[in-house]
Amino acid sequence: MSLIKLVNISKIYGEERTTIKALDDVSLEIEQGKIITIMGPSGSGKSTLLNILGAMDKPTNGEVLVNDKDIGKVAESKLSSYRKNIIGFVFQSFYLLPNLDVINNVLIPLIPYGIKDPDRERAQELLNLVGLGERSKSKVRKLSGGESQRVAIARALINNPKVILADEPTGNLDSVTGKAIIDLLIKLAEQGTTVIIVTHDPRIAQVISEHPLGQNIWIKDGKLSNEPTYDMYCW
Ligand SMILES: Nc1ncnc2c1ncn2[C@@H]1O[C@H](COP(=O)(O)OP(=O)(O)OP(=O)(O)O)[C@@H](O)[C@H]1O
Ligand SMILES: [Mg+2]
Repeated sequence: MSLIKLVNISKIYGEERTTIKALDDVSLEIEQGKIITIMGPSGSGKSTLLNILGAMDKPTNGEVLVNDKDIGKVAESKLSSYRKNIIGFVFQSFYLLPNLDVINNVLIPLIPYGIKDPDRERAQELLNLVGLGERSKSKVRKLSGGESQRVAIARALINNPKVILADEPTGNLDSVTGKAIIDLLIKLAEQGTTVIIVTHDPRIAQVISEHPLGQNIWIKDGKLSNEPTYDMYCW
């Protein structure tokens, strides 16, 4: 059984003459424990697809099935529990709080539930994991783009999500740090987490394609393909 299944999903933005079809009749089955890259040109619908997979946005048409249940038909309260318990989201723009220190940014998803000492310990462990163990008390506004990205990744992991949706998680990182982040995401997949990575980096797609749990998907003009739909090296 697939963990998440998209059935004939379309997403149309805007009204009447100014509409944009960001997703065009997309069907996709995501199995538990896979690590998947989604590649495609700017504006092809990658972030829109992740937002729909993470129930951050609703499709215009089609169904999103999670464990065979149509999440378009469940109440908002259940959807927020899906977001909290199943999904860890690494946003393209990190959405960190600049005046809060690093560790409290990692703990943001737990604020509504009350933060306890074991949560702080786990946040610290995650910061160690992403190489920021020494920076937990720094204000986020003092971090570089790459360091901020790593805080965002630690935050996505705080709830032990079953699915990690990462929108360009290495977009702001140098190649060594980027590789470390991909290695970390691969490790999580090997432990059973489903990982979906939007990336423009063909090296990442290559590494994932060679992994037994790996799968590459391409998107162009809102349509999916299992074959490259554009030349990633072409200017
Ligand atoms: N909230 C919105 N309102 C209107 N149009 C939108 C909205 N969000 C996205 N779009 C449009 O939908 C299309 C797909 O956008 P999306 O953000 O999914 O692209 P993307 O593949 O993530 O691009 P990038 O690589 O630049 O991040 C684009 O044409 C975009 O302008
Ligand atoms: Mg995007």
